[in-house]
Amino acid sequence: MIPDETVERVREAADIVEIVGEFVPLRRSGGTWRGACPFHGGKNPNFSVSPSHGSYHCFVCHESGDVFTFVRKRLGLDWPSAVKYIGDKVGIEVVDAPRRAQAPDPNAPNYEVLAAAAEWFQQQLRDDSGGRAARDYLTSRGLDEAAWQRFGGGFAPRDGQALRRHLHALGADDARQLEAGLLVQREGDSEPRLRFRGRVMFPIHDELGRPVGFGGRAMGDDTPKYLNSPESAVFQKRRTLYGLHTAKQSMRRAGRAIVVEGYLDAIRLALAGIEEVVAPLGTALTEEQAQLLVRYASEVFLLYDSDEAGQKATFRSGLELLRVKATVRVVSLPDGEDPDSFVRQQGRAAMETQLGQAIDLFDRQVQLLERRGWFADLRQRRNAIDKLLPTIRAARAPLTRDLYLARLSAVTQLDKATLAAEADALPDRERRSTTAGEARAHPGAVVRSDDGDGPPPFDGPPPEFADSGSDTSPAPLPPPPGDAKPAWKGRRGKPQGPEWQATAVPPRPSRDEPVERALVRAMLVDRGVAERVAERHPPDSFRDARYRELFDVLLHAPLDEELERVADRLSPETFAVLRAMTEGAPFEMESSDIGFSLAKLDVRVLESRLNEVRTAMQQEGDRDAKDQLMREAHELATEIRRILPMRSTRGRKWDGS
Ligand code: UTP
Ligand code: MN
Repeated sequence: MIPDETVERVREAADIVEIVGEFVPLRRSGGTWRGACPFHGGKNPNFSVSPSHGSYHCFVCHESGDVFTFVRKRLGLDWPSAVKYIGDKVGIEVVDAPRRAQAPDPNAPNYEVLAAAAEWFQQQLRDDSGGRAARDYLTSRGLDEAAWQRFGGGFAPRDGQALRRHLHALGADDARQLEAGLLVQREGDSEPRLRFRGRVMFPIHDELGRPVGFGGRAMGDDTPKYLNSPESAVFQKRRTLYGLHTAKQSMRRAGRAIVVEGYLDAIRLALAGIEEVVAPLGTALTEEQAQLLVRYASEVFLLYDSDEAGQKATFRSGLELLRVKATVRVVSLPDGEDPDSFVRQQGRAAMETQLGQAIDLFDRQVQLLERRGWFADLRQRRNAIDKLLPTIRAARAPLTRDLYLARLSAVTQLDKATLAAEADALPDRERRSTTAGEARAHPGAVVRSDDGDGPPPFDGPPPEFADSGSDTSPAPLPPPPGDAKPAWKGRRGKPQGPEWQATAVPPRPSRDEPVERALVRAMLVDRGVAERVAERHPPDSFRDARYRELFDVLLHAPLDEELERVADRLSPETFAVLRAMTEGAPFEMESSDIGFSLAKLDVRVLESRLNEVRTAMQQEGDRDAKDQLMREAHELATEIRRILPMRSTRGRKWDGS
């Protein structure tokens, strides 16, 4: 028997998109991925994989399951082999030993001693007199008891021996404590000493939530400001992201990851309800950290401090992320702010506004050069191109690369092909930089420093990329015209979206689609519905542009985001639809309505495919190919008939849309 805990760890760590993707080419489609169903041998993208639910579903043959079901069925494995197969991929040892103890993890003692220390630090923080100063410090930073309990905050007193004795009593000798980085042996000292003394302790966890190290914050002006655990068998900074174990689910759900610099930034955002946030343990992301992030979200927001170091780190991190094909957006906070101070003063809504105004990494670089007039002057233009080419080179996703080339071509008025050729001429320095991630991991305690390794391809060199900061807050837009202000609640959030000026834009062609309307209504009642629908039908499959937009926005909005704030991101026509839908009494929506509407959408997709197949059948000359098409048509028609009878049981008119 494999312990449940192991199974869950494997499931947690496994990326269903990656695993299914080895057998079935998948393409992203909203929050889910689509491909041809391998179970019934389909040719069309009717097979949907949902990373947030860790499940797959084919709406033609109705095969569904999780990552284990998938490999069991595809590879014909029994249950233990399936768990082992996936365990291998994610680096978790799966031991199937009936009644016998699991093979000992060589790192288990390390995890144990670190967990015991974390627990002890927390007790010290609660200690009536001993922990008072630390509690006061945390309170002064705006972190109440609930907050520090949530991130596991603790306190390491000055007394040099208490923790050591406590751990001895639990059976962890000095060697073990040294290995875990809790003690340090200085040359010339007879006794080892505690590493952390008189500091507020932030435990650092691995992806599975096990403590692997600590960051200790000085409460006064002691240096270093943060003292971190050293590298150890269980703690490798370049592979660790602070907050990942709590952020990963939210990242999947939100489809985005937010990277901040510091422990406190990450904690503050998470407390404010923006949970998909992590901090690298060093200012810039390493290659490994970038890889780790894109397993959970393909869109990454870089939310660094507004100072120069933050800007440098932004561009370095951005390049690592482009190399792993992430979409990279840059948030520029007002001068002098970091995410912690910003959220503390202005709240979550203001932060969401900032995130909403984030711009693409490359655009940001172009913007900074443009502001300094680098494209106006011929000689400077050459330099500007040299500054930007590394970003284009880093962009491994073909579409991103092409977009960047097009943008560069537009801004320099040079031929795109010429620029592409220039980008392909890879200077030696760049070639090395792809493996420089490791060198850039900061091994020391003070990780903010500008270490002396070779110049990164785009290290946001001051002065040309040093941003004055004041120009980062966009000019406030004029207030909305009075008559456009909806009676319904009204929009909050400053500045007002530019869509208020866009009332002259002709409405997009729309058809009224009752099924789509019904589903959007259900999503408004229960926001989880959007995800459930998206598993089978991504927003793109909606025909009415307004419902499609609503679906898309609801799908990507955090579940607990207020509707008024969600509404801020809508175009005027869609906003009008939303207003109409939310006026009047609260809806009463049975969940069975969703099933009904989903089935109608299934039929719609099947019918349109059936039409395609019939047309193809008429034009096909080859006998075998024609037979094949006929079989598919038959399969589709059978499936449609299977779904259709529910119309009569529901006693509702089938409008066939
Ligand atoms: P910051 O100096 O921006 O720290 O460094 P912070 O998180 O905003 O902390 P407060 O608000 O001043 O308390 C960002 C990150 O760099 C690392 C830490 O991970 C920190 O959170 N750092 C910084 C160190 O490891 N050591 C240091 O001495 C300073
Ligand atoms: Mn900071």
